Amino acid sequence: MKGFVNIQGKILPIHQAVIPVLDHGFLYGDSVYETFRTCHGTPLQFEEHIDRLFYSAQRLELKMPFPKEKILQETLNTALHYWKKTKKEDLYIRVIVSRGYGDIGFDPKLCPHPLLIIIVKPFIPFPQIYYKTGVKLTFVSIVRNHPKSIDPNIKSGNYLNNILAYLEAKKQGSSIFDALMCNADGYITEGTTSNIFIIKKGKLYTPSLESGILRGLTREFIIRLAKNNHLNVQETKISKAMLLSSDECFLASSLKGILPVTYCKTQTLRKIGSGKPGPMTQKLMSLFDHAITKTCASSSS
Ligand SMILES: Cc1ncc(COP(=O)(O)O)c(C=O)c1O
Repeated sequence: MKGFVNIQGKILPIHQAVIPVLDHGFLYGDSVYETFRTCHGTPLQFEEHIDRLFYSAQRLELKMPFPKEKILQETLNTALHYWKKTKKEDLYIRVIVSRGYGDIGFDPKLCPHPLLIIIVKPFIPFPQIYYKTGVKLTFVSIVRNHPKSIDPNIKSGNYLNNILAYLEAKKQGSSIFDALMCNADGYITEGTTSNIFIIKKGKLYTPSLESGILRGLTREFIIRLAKNNHLNVQETKISKAMLLSSDECFLASSLKGILPVTYCKTQTLRKIGSGKPGPMTQKLMSLFDHAITKTCASSSS
């Protein structure tokens, strides 16, 4: 595997990077992280990702090892190192802050030194065919974490809720792309690594933050984009029935961008709308690509 890892400012080839087994990120999932990509060398929504990293850390009472500017700089240094040592290609970037090394136990005093880890490796986009035909989702029995247990709006290293949902989805068939999780009240929340949107009668809907979701940065970007283009957007409770009777549907995340969803499984596999990426999804995809390209062009100039 190609890539480099920065641990507390020291950059190593990916296969040489190790952390102690008593690191609490490893022992307990006691860590926070962000994933994003570069586009023509520019990290997308870079500051927003690092701001969310700080937000998640604060929710876990995890002391950040460095100020924001230093984390931004270390991330850039790691990407620049990759480009210098290998080739200039777009990168997947993962910035992690772990509670750090310490004896077994939950007392944060056991871990006086939180650890910054930055992983950079080639960004491998999802196959183009997924964007052309759309992907299939399935509802799963695994309920999304309740915001009063592990708040989905904390992007922590504990992804077991999502992993269990994903495992259940994959048992439904190899053509299923991902699970769609509902909250304890039966309303739709999100995919295992994406937010979800539906379109019905020309209006865009996405589960509200109160539904129990990660406040995705792509979700926020799409909401702004839609509003700026005079599209009607509503953040609300979304039932399964509403999704199944929608005209269009798509997933959104930093690594996927906008990914159309054309089928969803409940008891049987059901078509969403025409079973093809719809016109509004395609319009948003094109607005999104245009906005991203513009951002990249302005930050590289
Ligand atoms: C559970 C979950 N929801 C939504 C998202 C999308 O968030 P973003 O757009 O900030 O990448 C992610 C991304 O990893 C996620 O893990």
